[in-house]
Amino acid sequence: MSPAALTITDATVDFGAGPVLDRVSLDVAAGEFVCVVGASGSGKTTLLNAIAGLVELDGGTVAVDGRQVAGPGPDRAVVFQDDAVFPWLTVARNAAFGLQTQGVAKAARRERVAEVLATVGLTGHEDQWPRELSGGMRKRVDLARALAVRPPVLLMDEPYGALDMLTKEKLQGDLDTIVSHEGMTVVFVTHDLEEAVFLADRVVILASHPGRVAAEVQIPFARPRDPELRLTPDFQALRGEVLHHLQAVAGPAGVAA
Ligand SMILES: Nc1ncnc2c1ncn2[C@@H]1O[C@H](COP(=O)(O)OP(=O)(O)OP(=O)(O)O)[C@@H](O)[C@H]1O
Ligand SMILES: [Mg+2]
Repeated sequence: MSPAALTITDATVDFGAGPVLDRVSLDVAAGEFVCVVGASGSGKTTLLNAIAGLVELDGGTVAVDGRQVAGPGPDRAVVFQDDAVFPWLTVARNAAFGLQTQGVAKAARRERVAEVLATVGLTGHEDQWPRELSGGMRKRVDLARALAVRPPVLLMDEPYGALDMLTKEKLQGDLDTIVSHEGMTVVFVTHDLEEAVFLADRVVILASHPGRVAAEVQIPFARPRDPELRLTPDFQALRGEVLHHLQAVAGPAGVAA
């Protein structure tokens, strides 16, 4: 998997009630992990969907390695908040879905599925059905399916929002390890500032009505990251900085710490 650069230039989206995104520009370097935070309704999902090619722009462009995006494509895999695991397929077949769509031959498919299930920690669960899995395991299946096709860009919209704290921290650690090993370009939307600072190379803060990039905070920690990093003063200072930017754009009553 070779990561791609993502260039968003003056992206504007208007569903008819005024712009939801107003000339949003964002450059994500190949291999960079960007977390996007912002108040509810600030346009985070709209931005992610615009990058995915699922929402049409009313102005501006999205380009992957310089090629303009005109719709969904295999160069950008998406993991949504609600898991998209197919209940009628086993874990292995769910993971193989994108490969099958791309017409990858059976032997190569098997090999890649085994590899990707090992990557996400699901070896031994190949023949289980989604109904037999916990919420955290279903998110692993989602990630396996996204990673299987080796997408140069991975887009994630609050993937761990519905999970308990311990499961969430485990999955964050695993994602960090995966990203460290595989080298991917990631745009990850979250409400959770601790999650953003733990995962990101850079946190982008969106302001609301209309959505625009209000501030950015660089996160300089090396990877892979130790879970204990969260307890360090440097980590908490960066979290505080992101919170400060959010409060500045939302007003004092707009954010719950
Ligand atoms: N398909 C659509 N049609 C009309 N309006 C939409 C559509 N999608 C989003 N919106 C509006 O755009 C604004 C931004 O929505 P979006 O879902 O991008 O916000 P968000 O930052 O992801 O919020 P949350 O944190 O709650 O997920 C909201 O006011 C929403 O109602
Ligand atoms: Mg959203």
